[in-house]
Amino acid sequence: MKKSFIFISLLLALCYSLLVLHHGFVDAADADSSVHLSLPSDQPYRTGYHFQPPQNWMNDPNGPMYYKGVYHFFYQYNPNGPLFGDIMIWGHSVSYDLVNWIHIDPAIYPTDPADINSCFSGSATFLPGYKPVMLYTGLDTEKRQVQNLAVPKNLSDPFLREWVKHKANPIMTTPEGVKADDFRDPSTAWLGYDGKWRVLVGSKKNDLGVAYLYQSKDFVKWERFDYPLMSMMETSTWECPDFFPVSVSSTNGLDTSGVINPGVKHVVKVGFNGIDWYTIGTLSERDNYVPENGLKGNSLDMRYDYGKFYASKSFYDNAKQRRVLWGWISEADAQEDDVARGWSGLQAVPRSVWLDRNGKQLVQWPVEEIEKLRENEVKFSNKELEGGSLFEVEGITASQADVKISFKLSNLEEAEELDPSWTDPQLLCSEMGVSSKGKYGPFGLLALASDDLTEQTAIFFRVFSSHGKYVVLMCSDQRRSSISNNVEKTTYGTFVDIDPKHEEISLRSLIDHSIIESFGAEGKSCITARVYPRLAINKDAHLYTFNYGSESVMISELNAWSMKNAHMIVDETLSSAA
Ligand code: FRU
Repeated sequence: MKKSFIFISLLLALCYSLLVLHHGFVDAADADSSVHLSLPSDQPYRTGYHFQPPQNWMNDPNGPMYYKGVYHFFYQYNPNGPLFGDIMIWGHSVSYDLVNWIHIDPAIYPTDPADINSCFSGSATFLPGYKPVMLYTGLDTEKRQVQNLAVPKNLSDPFLREWVKHKANPIMTTPEGVKADDFRDPSTAWLGYDGKWRVLVGSKKNDLGVAYLYQSKDFVKWERFDYPLMSMMETSTWECPDFFPVSVSSTNGLDTSGVINPGVKHVVKVGFNGIDWYTIGTLSERDNYVPENGLKGNSLDMRYDYGKFYASKSFYDNAKQRRVLWGWISEADAQEDDVARGWSGLQAVPRSVWLDRNGKQLVQWPVEEIEKLRENEVKFSNKELEGGSLFEVEGITASQADVKISFKLSNLEEAEELDPSWTDPQLLCSEMGVSSKGKYGPFGLLALASDDLTEQTAIFFRVFSSHGKYVVLMCSDQRRSSISNNVEKTTYGTFVDIDPKHEEISLRSLIDHSIIESFGAEGKSCITARVYPRLAINKDAHLYTFNYGSESVMISELNAWSMKNAHMIVDETLSSAA
């Protein structure tokens, strides 16, 4: 009797997993709550549709790829607790749609002398014959950072559950003069003009942050070039370098091993000082990378995101001919709270990324699949927001929502002058927070707000004039995001490259309990914030549009949706059945 009950339960769990895997999603109401791990009432900061493992610490995205109809997501994971651990491994989840995920067994974990003390970040590359392989950093017996190679055990398993370490590991060791703990995070490799592979490894030599370039014929024996692909003085160690081509004429993505021609530019992204910086440039046939704007490590350099977003990694999704970007969003609260909660770290919603029409910057936009979680649309258009006014957007679940709004500004003659010394947008946002009233702005959204506005996160714009042109500032002000004083409340900001005289100023915010990802000007400027409201949680969260400037602005359109839960299930049945 008992045996048959267990058998039937296992069978049901297996069927459920297969249903989720094959249909991508099951309606929230149909889902068995015992396998649904998002418990917002006990855990107000757990998200409904952002990627999270069921528990413990997660940081960098690793080796994302699309293989045999399945999206794979690997991530830095501490299996033993909610803080960064002594032993880090690769968690592994699979999906058919980048929205609903099944957590399967960890993929890469310490087994060999070359990675016995941890398996740090790395990337996937497809070798000829549609063979995915992973390059990753191992911490060896002496905790030296070395680069290793792992290959799937069984290429006919679309979930790629088992990985085998190459017997030649480590395949790269610390270059001379580089500290043993300053050499990590191999990128996706690409084919050079000579048919040999190229790959980047993040490092630091003395005071110089570097992305070392290596080449190889067989992916096993690697040789370092004398010069790095890119470097910069006085930075912390360069982490998680990413390199990829972008088309100058299309929003479609390109495979990393693409052609070199005038229709293609190249992006190099590196992480240091807790920020992901990128440059756009060209790679010459002779492996010379010339960025159009070099890195200076200051507020005017280009970043993927001007809030929290780090250690990101992109991959080419050949199912939809797009480049998809993953990024780690760390916590901003106290470690003891993470410990009490049992988990730390989120991933941003995967973003499509392409080169803006002006050729000077990237554009990012949440992958279209996330839109299938939208429900209960609320919309209106042509609503004037007078100076000093506030308007509640009712009818959606404000704690878990997707909101799009665009503003039209008619007469900009009154715009405030931008003082030429105001060159740092983040500083400007923190000095002119939401409570400093201007002419055109601040206007925008108050997200995760309590009904008396004691708590609120303000995402807003402010328009200045400067030498006959206009400058648009975008800010995310977290100062009143929580009545708790035990959280970091940094204000973020960036200038947005649009002309408000001829273009509407748009904002999209993905709100999900403790994260707000904001996309200004259709994805030209992104700001992600982590917030921990105490009052504005679940049903007590509200959403407002506001205009605290003295001049009125027009909301030309607003669309807001409640967001359903994504399914993130642990599939022990599926993984142990393997
Ligand atoms: C970036 C990073 C990487 C390293 C990994 C370890 O967040 O420090 O450089 O590989 O995390 O988890």
